[in-house]
Amino acid sequence: MRIGLLTGGGDCPGLDAAIRAVVRVGEDSGDEIIGFRHGWRGVVDGEAWPLTTQETKGILQQGGTILGTARYHPDEHEGDVDKVRAAIDRSRIDVLVVIGGDGTLGSAHQLALSGIPVVGIPKTIDNDVPGTNRCIGFDTAATIATEAVDRLHTTGESHDRLMVVEVMGRTTGWLAVSAGIAGGADAICMPEEPTDLGRLAKAIRRRHDRGSSSSVVVVAEGAVFDGHPGPGPQHSAGAVVADELKECTGYETRLTVLGHVQRGGTPTATDRLLATRLGVAAVHTAHAHTFDTMVASLDERIEAVSLAGVAVGPRPVPTNLLDVARQLTVR
Ligand code: F6P
Repeated sequence: MRIGLLTGGGDCPGLDAAIRAVVRVGEDSGDEIIGFRHGWRGVVDGEAWPLTTQETKGILQQGGTILGTARYHPDEHEGDVDKVRAAIDRSRIDVLVVIGGDGTLGSAHQLALSGIPVVGIPKTIDNDVPGTNRCIGFDTAATIATEAVDRLHTTGESHDRLMVVEVMGRTTGWLAVSAGIAGGADAICMPEEPTDLGRLAKAIRRRHDRGSSSSVVVVAEGAVFDGHPGPGPQHSAGAVVADELKECTGYETRLTVLGHVQRGGTPTATDRLLATRLGVAAVHTAHAHTFDTMVASLDERIEAVSLAGVAVGPRPVPTNLLDVARQLTVR
């Protein structure tokens, strides 16, 4: 088979591990792998080159993507789906293996509906692609964010400060909840559940009245608030929380915005393993001609699921995990 391979949307650690697995297993089975540069853009613009095992040596532990990536969706631009089809015909691609988050995989589904054979692989540090329990990149980002929370505890305690840390997650709070629980944060603000900042300030005061000298509050960048419009264009959710809590408690407060640090650098062993398993499964799924699918991590299994079920919007943090967070933090 001639397998086209692309990475779309925001980068994350573990993409190269998935690319390496697709190339090795594909090449071993007699496939030719064609890499497209910068996601769907490279397909439309014809930016492609053959990928070999030799060329993908030593990339397992790398961050980012050797293919480059872009936030561009051909189904949102008139005529671009036809351009993708023409490019695929031109390069005699039998199947496109698409590594992406919900946006990129949503486009993959639209292209599949128009007759283009695709198999998806889920990745995003947000971990919110429906149909899979885990996405490539999430474990590494959660580990980085947890370490940041650990570090903020010690500096916060030394200065008796209120430490607010903003983590990524525009529409879901997977990173905030996971790093918050794993790092022992005192409060977590997330998109799944509006935070009443006045009430949170009182709860933090009570904590300090009972003997704590500092608190760490984890805020998802997409956190929502009761009775507060949220951040304006110049603000972030973390800044809203830091300003309001400082105002209401009078405590000395510091804000840390982790930003793209969470997306960079070497993937954890868990992400390398997941990316490798998904890459291998994607090649087998392509060989089986099971198109319009995404290989998903479900409990201990990797399975191909329909892409139609993926293009339904982001997967929120489930109630059982929110419950754990509620029991260990103040609100
Ligand atoms: O999609 C992953 C993500 O890291 C989100 O958590 C974040 O909101 C967004 O990408 C940032 O996008 P960009 O790198 O384009 O600024």
